[in-house]
Amino acid sequence: MAVFNLTINNEDYKVDVDPQMPLLWVIRDFAGLTGTKYGCGIAQCGACTVHLDGNAVRSCSIPVSSVADQKVVTIEGLSKKGDHPLQKAWEEADVPQCGYCQSGQIMSAAALLKDKPQPTDQDIDNLMSGNICRCGTYNRIKKAIHLAAKGGKS
Ligand code: FES
Ligand code: FES
Repeated sequence: MAVFNLTINNEDYKVDVDPQMPLLWVIRDFAGLTGTKYGCGIAQCGACTVHLDGNAVRSCSIPVSSVADQKVVTIEGLSKKGDHPLQKAWEEADVPQCGYCQSGQIMSAAALLKDKPQPTDQDIDNLMSGNICRCGTYNRIKKAIHLAAKGGKS
């Protein structure tokens, strides 16, 4: 066991855990932030996507010991009132079906828009391809990302 100081959604957390514990479990079980989901546990589905210093990462496959001083942002910290342009676009496009993959989808999309504010369909296909949706909401996800990129105007 070892003590780690983490910043998650601008709040400080001190955890005493196995250094190999995946960041996902620290987020869910120690910080109590359950919006980030467990899907595969092997970096293949994207359900556990969070931001580390603004970059989308798979929290199931990152040991807490490698997070060090980087800032973690989860879906709960993406916006104060759930009103990030992507969250509003998601609502407008009525994207979710079961919802399980959606926080990961939105976190990946947020990182995508930071790097490419006006993404093409191809950009979206390339950068979102690691986020799996068993319900097949891909077309609505694409629509919502374009909507957010246009400032919410369809
Ligand atoms: S749970 Fe992390 S990528 Fe699937
Ligand atoms: S909305 Fe059900 S898995 Fe994506």
